[in-house]
Amino acid sequence: MIIDPIRSVKGTRDLLPPDTNLWQRVEAEAHRIFAAYHYGEIRTPILEQTGLFSRSVGADTDIVMKEMYTFRDRDDESLTLRPEATASVVRAYLEHSLYNQGGVHKLYYLGPMFRRERPQKGRYRQFYQIGAEVLGSESPLVDAEILEMLVLFLERVGIREYQLLLNSVGCPKCRADYLKVLREALQHVKASMCGDCQRRADTNPLRVLDCKVEADQPIIERLPKIIDHLDPECREHFDRVMGELQARQLSYQVAPRLVRGLDYYTRTTFEITSGALGAQNAVVGGGRYDGLSELLGGPPTPGIGFSIGQDRLILAVQEAAVLQSDALLAAYVVWMGEATLPPAARLVRELRGQGLSVEIDYDPMKIKKAMGVANKLQARFAIIIGEGELASGRYQVKDMASGQQQEVEPGNIAEYLKARL
Ligand code: HAM
Repeated sequence: MIIDPIRSVKGTRDLLPPDTNLWQRVEAEAHRIFAAYHYGEIRTPILEQTGLFSRSVGADTDIVMKEMYTFRDRDDESLTLRPEATASVVRAYLEHSLYNQGGVHKLYYLGPMFRRERPQKGRYRQFYQIGAEVLGSESPLVDAEILEMLVLFLERVGIREYQLLLNSVGCPKCRADYLKVLREALQHVKASMCGDCQRRADTNPLRVLDCKVEADQPIIERLPKIIDHLDPECREHFDRVMGELQARQLSYQVAPRLVRGLDYYTRTTFEITSGALGAQNAVVGGGRYDGLSELLGGPPTPGIGFSIGQDRLILAVQEAAVLQSDALLAAYVVWMGEATLPPAARLVRELRGQGLSVEIDYDPMKIKKAMGVANKLQARFAIIIGEGELASGRYQVKDMASGQQQEVEPGNIAEYLKARL
């Protein structure tokens, strides 16, 4: 009988070594840089009540209408695999009454998100985000600081070719005025637009602005722009954000159509795109959501954050070829003759205990084959222990790149390797 193999679910994938080494390095850099900016890590559940996302992301968005993995649990509760994490962070902030502690809360997260989109390069149904959120301040300096941190992180992991696109979508007050103007303008042109735009012209006209249909683009270009309709407070906020970015020498481009695909945004919105990525070129999305806490039943709490698409970030990093996927194997230990195995195993344990990456095979091998394995594993050093070495109490340490070999006492090997890695 032939049994069909079971494969991974469409749009999901396995991440394998050595690629996972690169994922770990990117994550380590995120932990380091976010900690320097005094962010603390938050881990929220992957499962949430469906209502969390329909209320925050918005019932008329693509994410909620078409892309969520939603199911009825056995007790009939509607649950959803999180399509994003900002709503969860704000839910947790409210659930644990963090606002009672006063001050600003700076949180970051890493983990999988789920959206049932059409899979292609850079777009998956299970994908990963690295994100950060600041709750409790509406200062434009916070907007500038979080963007400064984001750019520092991108540069540290080796992304060079990128563009920061910036916009303001105003507050509900000035947005209502703008929506009137936009609705009015759309009445005159919607008949010649795509079906989605025709529907959205009435239900959610802002969404028309991020329509990707080619034929609609010239029409959208001529529609009124939200930044021309900001009220004085929102205008001033936006000007201060831009001023602060300039003071930090962070370059950006104002993108009047950037309204983002989620409904919770207010004022500052931004995306970072990378030329290295092709069609799915948005690596980061983010912005302010000063009304989200109230939407979820909490006290007024301004907030701002970003999410980096880690899958796309890794593709861009690989493109830039700055960080290599290969993990460094410090040494491969070769033993010859049964009596040398126990001291070889002891040495391996000691080196690993010192944090060095070391490999050994427990099946006996001829020296030539063992050196072939050391080469294949790209070990920096081979440590050779034969009966002679055992007798003299000095092991051979061979530099695999130069071929040079030196005798070193076992107790000094860790130090010897560390000085040369
Ligand atoms: P978003 O723009 O929906 O924003 O997603 C952020 C990033 O996640 C995108 O720029 C992209 O790199 C990545 N991404 C989204 N969908 C996929 C997918 N199907 N496959 C691969 N990567 C994907 C948010 O999620 C907001 N929570 C951002 C935010 C944080 N706003 C305020 N705070």
